[in-house]
Amino acid sequence: MIPLIKTLMPPKEKLMPKLESILYSGYIAQGEVVDEFENEFSKFNGNKNCLSVNSGSSALHVALILAGVKKGDEVISTPITAEPTNTVISQTGAKIIWGDIDLNTGNLCPDSVISKITDKTKAIMAVDYAGMPINIERFQEIEKKYGIPIIQDSAHAFGATYKGRKLGNHFKYTTFSFQAIKHMTTVDGGMVCIKDDEEFEKAKLIRWFGIKKGISRLENNIHLQGYKYHMNNINATVGLVQLETIDQVISQYIENGKYYDKALSGVKGLELMNYYPDSQPSYWLYTLKVERRDDFIKMMVDNGVMASELHKRNDLHSIFVDSKCELPNVDEFEQKWVHIPCGWWVTKKDREFIVSCIKKGW
Ligand SMILES: Cc1ncc(COP(=O)(O)O)c(C=O)c1O
Repeated sequence: MIPLIKTLMPPKEKLMPKLESILYSGYIAQGEVVDEFENEFSKFNGNKNCLSVNSGSSALHVALILAGVKKGDEVISTPITAEPTNTVISQTGAKIIWGDIDLNTGNLCPDSVISKITDKTKAIMAVDYAGMPINIERFQEIEKKYGIPIIQDSAHAFGATYKGRKLGNHFKYTTFSFQAIKHMTTVDGGMVCIKDDEEFEKAKLIRWFGIKKGISRLENNIHLQGYKYHMNNINATVGLVQLETIDQVISQYIENGKYYDKALSGVKGLELMNYYPDSQPSYWLYTLKVERRDDFIKMMVDNGVMASELHKRNDLHSIFVDSKCELPNVDEFEQKWVHIPCGWWVTKKDREFIVSCIKKGW
């Protein structure tokens, strides 16, 4: 079966000597290797304020705290995502206000978001679902006009670009996840990219109990609530080795995605996504809208290819019942939405085979 998602680990010969040396170095906590990982990540990404953490969820939480989100506030978010995007909002005590989506991409619709802004709105959580960048131009306008920070959850869109610039540089906060099945994994880990220098310093405190590193505990005075969210030298070592070849890995996703964009265009019974101008998705998944989805999935699985919706629309979870509202575009998208494999493990032969199966019909 060609899987929909797969973990990529560097070859043993490259990774193990470095891991072994750090494991027995006597310093496995957050140290110089983490600094080095952040520096290399910044070089890759282009934002100098990149703060590593122990998960994408922690990265989102740090961003929400920086945005000032507290109990009783409102955060506008999307139900078309993986659950952590939204469970992290509820963790702050804020209320989730669902925005509807744009049917062209499944991403949050800027006009719907504007219609839901109130005095209580403290942040907007926008997800680059499946690797497709959100409508960056419109969301930048919203961030500026309403003074409400956008948290761009780019967990699926590592390496994607807008106007040639990598995600991580377009909003006050952008977060990434390095969990097992993402474009790049550090086993578990995350990154929050921050625009403002002062907020970057504050984020360092939030990441580690509110304690300032580099001075002794006796001289420290905790003045804000912090957490144990730091990355350690072990995960950072994995990340550093991953970064050495990440450009090639991302290119493989993009090459496959572009191939499908061409080869599946005009095929009866399916609709392709329509990306926003100047944006380059990194195709963590290849998303389609198909007629008779169950039959489509069965046909794919019968041919040895995994296909699935992968995520449940988040507003259906009972924990979010207080946020329930009409979302006509989500209702429509939900009927047809499906993903097919697109990652580094999909060979040229595989993708040709996948396209030929789809073209035969279902
Ligand atoms: C869209 C999205 N946001 C956030 C997360 C949370 O990342 P992590 O699992 O690293 O906490 C994930 C991954 O599960 C995700 O898919």
